[in-house]
Amino acid sequence: MVKVAIFASGTGSNFEFIADNQALKDAGLEIEVLVCDRPKAAVIKKAQRRGIPTFIIQPKDFENRSHYEQVIVTELARYQIDTILLAGYMRVITSTLLSEYPMEIINIHPALLPLFPGIHGIEDAYKAGVSVTGVTIHYIDEGVDTGPIIAQQSIPILPDETLEQLESKIHDVEHQLYPKVILNLLNNEKGD
Ligand code: GAR
Repeated sequence: MVKVAIFASGTGSNFEFIADNQALKDAGLEIEVLVCDRPKAAVIKKAQRRGIPTFIIQPKDFENRSHYEQVIVTELARYQIDTILLAGYMRVITSTLLSEYPMEIINIHPALLPLFPGIHGIEDAYKAGVSVTGVTIHYIDEGVDTGPIIAQQSIPILPDETLEQLESKIHDVEHQLYPKVILNLLNNEKGD
């Protein structure tokens, strides 16, 4: 059994695709808690509907980022969390959290890193006029979207495609790729 916390800030479509994936459940993945930094985020209801506890916490309620993350660390310890999955969590992770979970925090990013890091990965690639973008799954390190890459999938940007069409294509790939990569990691750990 692997106990995970999912961190998300928004819609939560990646959260749903992980939470509803039967192969992940069969492989022993247990989502113990959703950590969310935006009280009105749609992902919160998605967790509640599935009976997954939610921990809602906002940096503005703390004097600094380290204190904010320290409270998260304490909460995760209650659930004996092994691994953190970021799924649209729009904040930089700092050393407070990272030192507790070294190489145990995984992120999904909607571009082919190291290209187009940050919070507008899809739009930045679209506006840059590149013909190929994609999705990256990577470990978190001290930088912004710089950690070791686990998997990438490229996606062509067609000449007459709108930004909305590209977004939808990228999300479709994310929804397949993230659960698949997590499953591979779980199976590899069992083989160790
Ligand atoms: C996803 O596209 C994810 O790759 C992106 O936020 C979206 C969340 O969607 N993450 C980043 O941009 C991180 N820098 P969701 O809430 O529907 O899963």
